[in-house]
Amino acid sequence: MSFPHVKPVQQLALTEAKAEWDDLADQIRAHDKHYYQNDAPLISDAEYDGLRLRLQDLEAQFPQLQTSESPTQKVGAEASATFSKVRHSVPMLSLGNAFTIDDVTDFIAFIRKYLGAYDAPFAGEALLNFVCEPKIDGLSFSARYEKGQFVRGATRGDGEVGEDITANLKTLQGFPLTLTGDDVPAVLEVRGEVYMSHADFEALNNKRIAADEPKFANPRNAAAGSLRQLNAQITAERRLKFFVYGWGEVGDDTLAHITSHWEFRQKLKSWGFQIIDDKELAQLRVGDNTIVAYYHNVQRLRPTLDYDIDGVVYKVDNLILQKRLGSVGRAPRWAIAHKFPAEQAQTVVESIDIQVGRTGSLTPVARLKPVNVGGVMVGNATLHNEDEIARKDVRVGNTVVVQRAGDVIPQVVEVDKSKRPENSVAYVFPDHCPVCGSFAVREAGEVAKRCTGGLLCEAQLLERLRHFVSRNAMDLEGLGEKQMEAFWRDGLIKTVADIYDLPSRYAEIEKREGWGKKSADNLMTAIEKSRYAQLEKFIFALGIRHVGEITGKVLARHYSSCSAWFAAMQALPLGGDVRSDLDNIDGIGPKVVAALSDFFREPHNIDIVQSLVSALHIQDAQAVAAHSVVAGKTVVFTGTLVRLSRNEAKSRAESLGAKVASSVSAKTDYVVAGEDAGSKLKAARELGVTILSESEWLDLIDSTKD
Ligand code: IVH
Repeated sequence: MSFPHVKPVQQLALTEAKAEWDDLADQIRAHDKHYYQNDAPLISDAEYDGLRLRLQDLEAQFPQLQTSESPTQKVGAEASATFSKVRHSVPMLSLGNAFTIDDVTDFIAFIRKYLGAYDAPFAGEALLNFVCEPKIDGLSFSARYEKGQFVRGATRGDGEVGEDITANLKTLQGFPLTLTGDDVPAVLEVRGEVYMSHADFEALNNKRIAADEPKFANPRNAAAGSLRQLNAQITAERRLKFFVYGWGEVGDDTLAHITSHWEFRQKLKSWGFQIIDDKELAQLRVGDNTIVAYYHNVQRLRPTLDYDIDGVVYKVDNLILQKRLGSVGRAPRWAIAHKFPAEQAQTVVESIDIQVGRTGSLTPVARLKPVNVGGVMVGNATLHNEDEIARKDVRVGNTVVVQRAGDVIPQVVEVDKSKRPENSVAYVFPDHCPVCGSFAVREAGEVAKRCTGGLLCEAQLLERLRHFVSRNAMDLEGLGEKQMEAFWRDGLIKTVADIYDLPSRYAEIEKREGWGKKSADNLMTAIEKSRYAQLEKFIFALGIRHVGEITGKVLARHYSSCSAWFAAMQALPLGGDVRSDLDNIDGIGPKVVAALSDFFREPHNIDIVQSLVSALHIQDAQAVAAHSVVAGKTVVFTGTLVRLSRNEAKSRAESLGAKVASSVSAKTDYVVAGEDAGSKLKAARELGVTILSESEWLDLIDSTKD
């Protein structure tokens, strides 16, 4: 595999190494959080392993960098706050990784050396045996049994403390609640892996697509998301499966009678646990060459399995030797995971398409000449975003390396530049939405370009319609999600404005299946009612990026009437006064201003807002503060206020319908001057604006109390 860090650690100065260590440790911690707590990794397992390996190399070269806080000393991520915590009585370790045959040879040589037996037999054994098993790509768990009864289940968490998933484990297919046999230890903790089969994963994702829920990226994330559910009923519906591969605390003198890992596996099976029992997959092998043959055989079988594996695990079979070898940091010395390389293949990019997501983000996808990557035909690969295409310089007609690494979505790794045709041209990312033709913009600090034509773009429409009719927006009771989706499919609604044309199609609606007079009448009443929406709700309902309920309110108070607001918005993309006025509103940041400007720069959006405005009777924002003497007045606070904080003063003024500005102009009605007021007070004097002290202002607004 290739690493982004090219300089060998031996050539680094300590300061360089420290800087790189800090950066890597931060990245790994962030990725741990995405992977373990959010169940949504941002990078492939192979890339993650690459980061970890580099960190380990740095620490090997500069031991002073290794602290107890280092990610190399921790397993996984801290347990999340929502489940109760369980301390593992025996820590749950992780495994070291081998990526090449040489790594495996080194591992075996190290064991022989450590045990002090290069060639000679040891502990009465002529050979060093290994238990070989596939490494299931799922989620590890620990299950505790007392007197043969299941009492508690936990995730790995950070290896010391995990999350209590007792109720969830009970729902796994074939999970034993009571163990069988007369030799079950009084206390037994088993460790294993929970996973989701490919068939169940497909079925779950199909269900999620139908319900408009986001798909899980791969079976591992689906298993993790399903297991860590506070409502175990949901876990039960997900049909998770498990294998047991090891143990933690074992009571009585059970272990005194069992000498090998292989034998313990058989015991686990006899007590009622599922183990990997297939003769080709689970084997007892002698080290060295025979292990390599096993690895290749499992790699060959991998595409035939109904679950994901990401390598194989070798464990020293003899339990006395396991004990002597012990562990270092997060991993036992007696076991190692031999990872499969990411599966790659070369093919040609036939075109680059842009997909538009439900929220308007533009995602580039490479359409490939179909190629077999590790047993699966791949015809599409994600290119992530504009920057990624530019970084890799992916062009139509180029030969690229595609990879499937644990993830289900294949990726373009790199371009084989030696095969680049001479006439190939760099890809230019579009600045218009391919679905609706609206402008596509990229906000500062964002990687994705977004379509700004949310109100008309087919790709986003359903999402927008849903938002528009929702309770906190236009509150269109009677037009539930299902009905609206059906209207949209049948072409009755093409944009949000069409909702207000529905009364003209009353007869048609009444006749629809599941409708009738009563429902159609209810819908008409709801539509009439919603025509009188408050301005703030209307602004919010448009679904403009970054314009949530609070921003809707602030804008509505500031502009008071729908016509003033709409006129200002249409002028906004031109800059000037409207823009500086907006910049000055408390609670409106640059992101909101940019989003409003992008939205109203798009003529399609203006057309739709215009038809809405004509069809509706939007209510002015003054209702709350109509009786206030400061309603509609513009106020500037300056200097130090003593009875109110600046924020308090602003929000009280706004709640009474006043507009709070940050600079004084001829349009300012009052300047409230606190102590040490400076230039604004001077400006107010020059412009002849009414100047009030803090107490005068408070008296004024108090006089309007009802
Ligand atoms: S043995 C002391 N066997 O891989 C730890 N682990 O990357 C012994 N895993 O935490 C682990 N399949 O969750 C073992 N057949 C298998 C496994 C397996 C999957 C997981 C396990 C472990 C992780 C390490």
